[in-house]
Amino acid sequence: MIPFNKPFLTGIETAYIEQAVHSGKISGNGMFTKKCQHFFEKNYGIKKALLTTSCTDALEMCALLLNIKEGDEIIMPSYTFVSTANAFVLRGAKIIFCDSKRDQPNIDETKIERLISPKTKAIIVVHYAGVACEMDTILSIAKKHKLFVVEDAAQGIESYYKGRPLGSIGHLATFSFHETKNIQCGEGGLLAINDKKFIERAEIIWEKGTNRAAFWRGEVNKYNWVDIGSSFLPSEINTAFLYAQLEELETIQNRRKSIWEQYYKGVDKLIELGIGLPYIPEYATNNAHMFYLICRSGKERTKLIEHLKENEINAVFHYICLHDSPYYKEKHDVREMPIAKKYENCLLRLPLWVDMNDKEVDLIVHNILKFYKIL
Ligand SMILES: Cc1ncc(COP(=O)(O)O)c(C=O)c1O
Repeated sequence: MIPFNKPFLTGIETAYIEQAVHSGKISGNGMFTKKCQHFFEKNYGIKKALLTTSCTDALEMCALLLNIKEGDEIIMPSYTFVSTANAFVLRGAKIIFCDSKRDQPNIDETKIERLISPKTKAIIVVHYAGVACEMDTILSIAKKHKLFVVEDAAQGIESYYKGRPLGSIGHLATFSFHETKNIQCGEGGLLAINDKKFIERAEIIWEKGTNRAAFWRGEVNKYNWVDIGSSFLPSEINTAFLYAQLEELETIQNRRKSIWEQYYKGVDKLIELGIGLPYIPEYATNNAHMFYLICRSGKERTKLIEHLKENEINAVFHYICLHDSPYYKEKHDVREMPIAKKYENCLLRLPLWVDMNDKEVDLIVHNILKFYKIL
């Protein structure tokens, strides 16, 4: 069976973990944490990066930093992972969902402004498949209405919007290093702070509501409980693993892009049949996080998944819209999200991992073309 995902190992991870173990500092905020954070600050111009145990945790930090409280409204796409919404719902927010774009699953920026009310606090964008949302439009709407912008860049490492790295554009941003992501450490995440006014408080929230980070730097002579917070920082064992991956970012990206191109060239005839392929707008780059097809119906997708499974290939669907999920259906207003529903029903993700070989990609392409009888 060709699995949907197989976490890539650079081979250096265990050596770095051993180094962390023998360093005498295995808890968080040690040498490897700092190296990883520095990588993001230096390469992507992020003002302050803080590693977290997941992207979910980084999103929860965003909700705390923005002081989200009961009754606040947050605008975000319905076609996203549950954590994008849950982080804000935990603080009492009401989520105002927005539909996706016709040509790709990102939030439709032309539908955002009409959703704004006096209670709106923030717009959360999700760069689906690592492809940028239309940030200039979104930033100008946010500026006009004095709203915060958070980028959920869970899938967005090493991708750009008009030359600006994803994760460096919104007031705050989050990344995921879950094993399905381009760079991974099993479970992991990062909070990117681009508005300096959040830095000091973010470090406190990160360290259980204490000023321990300042204490380690020798800025205060004892550390105290100074705010709310939680234990958001990962151990040095995780960050040692992550650093080994970051060092190989270029190699990983080159291979992923090559697989992505091979897929695209192999299946581009499907466009003539009305099957959708990933669309990269001019303002965006492609980090090859994902290759997907958009089938013409849900039925067709189910049949294609079965056909691929019979041929030992594991292809999978993705998000289930949040606006009509069992948890949120009753809380959501009556608006329908037809385009997001199309992605829920018709989008199919193909296997994409660094150690796949060209033959495996060809085999998947061959089986897809056979299914559509165009071989
Ligand atoms: C858009 C988005 N946001 C957040 C997350 C949560 O990431 P994590 O598993 O690191 O908490 C995911 C997970 O895949 C995601 O796709």
